[in-house]
Amino acid sequence: MANPQSDVIIIGAGVFGLSTALYLARGGYKNITVFDRCAFDQNYYNPANGCDGASADINKIFRATYGDQQHNQDLALEARDIWLEWNRAIRESDPAKLPKPLTPEDELLKMCGVYHLADGDEMIPRYIDNLEAMEKTAPEFRDLQFLKGNSYEEWRANKLGPEWVKKYHLFDKFKGGATNGFLDAGSGITLADKACVYARHLCEKAGVKFVLGRPNGELQELITEQSGSQKRVTGIRTRDGLTHSAGLVIVACGPWSSTVLPEAHRSVEATMGTVMFIDIPEDRKDLREKFHPDNIPVWRFIQGEGEGGYEGGGFPITREGRLKFGFRARKFTNFQDHPTQKDIRISTPRTKYSPQPIDTVPSYGLELMKKVIGGLFPELIEIGFTDSRLCWYTDSIDNEFVVDFVPGYSDSLFICTGGSGHGFKFLPILGKYVKNQLERVPDQFTSLWKWRTVEEGKKCNGLEEGEAGPREMSKLRLAKPEDFKFVNQEAPSKIASGPRSRL
Ligand SMILES: Cc1cc2nc3c(=O)[nH]c(=O)nc-3n(C[C@H](O)[C@H](O)[C@H](O)COP(=O)(O)OP(=O)(O)OC[C@H]3O[C@@H](n4cnc5c(N)ncnc54)[C@H](O)[C@@H]3O)c2cc1C
Ligand SMILES: *[C@@H]1O[C@H](CO)[C@@H](O)[C@H](O)[C@H]1NC(C)=O
Repeated sequence: MANPQSDVIIIGAGVFGLSTALYLARGGYKNITVFDRCAFDQNYYNPANGCDGASADINKIFRATYGDQQHNQDLALEARDIWLEWNRAIRESDPAKLPKPLTPEDELLKMCGVYHLADGDEMIPRYIDNLEAMEKTAPEFRDLQFLKGNSYEEWRANKLGPEWVKKYHLFDKFKGGATNGFLDAGSGITLADKACVYARHLCEKAGVKFVLGRPNGELQELITEQSGSQKRVTGIRTRDGLTHSAGLVIVACGPWSSTVLPEAHRSVEATMGTVMFIDIPEDRKDLREKFHPDNIPVWRFIQGEGEGGYEGGGFPITREGRLKFGFRARKFTNFQDHPTQKDIRISTPRTKYSPQPIDTVPSYGLELMKKVIGGLFPELIEIGFTDSRLCWYTDSIDNEFVVDFVPGYSDSLFICTGGSGHGFKFLPILGKYVKNQLERVPDQFTSLWKWRTVEEGKKCNGLEEGEAGPREMSKLRLAKPEDFKFVNQEAPSKIASGPRSRL
């Protein structure tokens, strides 16, 4: 069990590590050191500068609609208040007192709305459940959700402001109008990289120490000793050869967690999300205006299930002119030998910045993305995708987080991960409840976040598939640079080659 006198080491300065450090430090813990192999003090969590964790990103969705997962809805709403408080603090801050590259203009959470769309005229069950749950449990947020294609709902959107009516009608023509869903004005986007920079700044103000960059900040191994029938972690060794002793080590390495901690490989799994970008040229003022967060919400679209099914979405434009699109109907694995425990194979993240870099994505998602994005925004077809990213999830067996002591280590080793594609929004609040688990104070998350592993013969969010599963990367075709264009060059369509004015 942890207490404020414990020497605490946290490995990983993503959302899970940062939020934990922040709440421990504010709770009186005097000696917390966070290690990360990425030099976040120099790259500012900006993925263009060479960092590749899931938290190091340009934007992430904030939503509070969680259907019957009341605990996650409550957590999101609690986070929301702090996001808005951070917005206010930054806005009112002396620019010189903000950490680089933040400025008072930066809104960490922007309530631009999220449009949940699906194929077909009838509302899909998932959306019905989402709306009903909100109605019952947080009616004031249900009031901010407007069902598509209903004049009363449009009238309600107008009461919130005319800009919401414009957003409400944005996708009317898509699929000949045969879509269903709702616009959620209580959701929006977070500026992910800057939010992490700000959280790290708050940590430092609360006394947390950081050791960042290779080799000093990179964990080489956990140092363990045998104590009776149990093991105990007494510290860590970093790549520079130094050892650091600690009473408690917290592994918050996201998709690299089972690389560091082989025991975790039946508990969490690294899976790859397909992310594509379109950089809008500076002279395309029309498009920069159209995709501005004041004019377009985040959109998500669901069509079908299983083979060929689509689930994904897109973000409004960043200040730098970048559109981001994600595909999450199928996540992929990359099985490799475990680096230290040779008898197991684990799904291992591979990115642009890995020892064996990869700079493309599987064709599977890319081709489906082109169909949907080309249908929604024909004006983007001529530009085509300009960049890509493999962004790695840390999936647990049931999409709930894994925040608990690792069995067999006499309460000296703790795991804090399992974001499962929805952890970012909780950055400002997560650590409050991680601290409870560290101090063994039972709360609503204790049973959900406990240490657990794949159960034989049961569906476990894909973790049961292992290397034999259909998602394994070695079985996939990877896209070539020419595939980033929407239209095959050998058979150019009129749309792709025509002058701009005709689009
Ligand atoms: C494609 C994608 C889209 C997502 N979209 C959303 C969204 O819209 N909204 C939302 O709320 N959430 C979203 N998420 C989920 C969210 O990004 C994650 O839950 C969250 O960022 C995970 O944080 P983390 O700290 O666990 O892991 P990470 O951010 O991956 O951080 C792990 C850190 O550990 C460090 N590390 C690893 N190994 C070592 C080592 N040996 N030594 C030192 N350091 C090490 C890494 O450098 C890294 O910084 C998305 C995730 C993905 C992949
Ligand atoms: C703080 O913890 C580190 C290990 O993380 C340890 O080396 C150091 O001695 C501790 N400092 C104090 C003042 O206890």
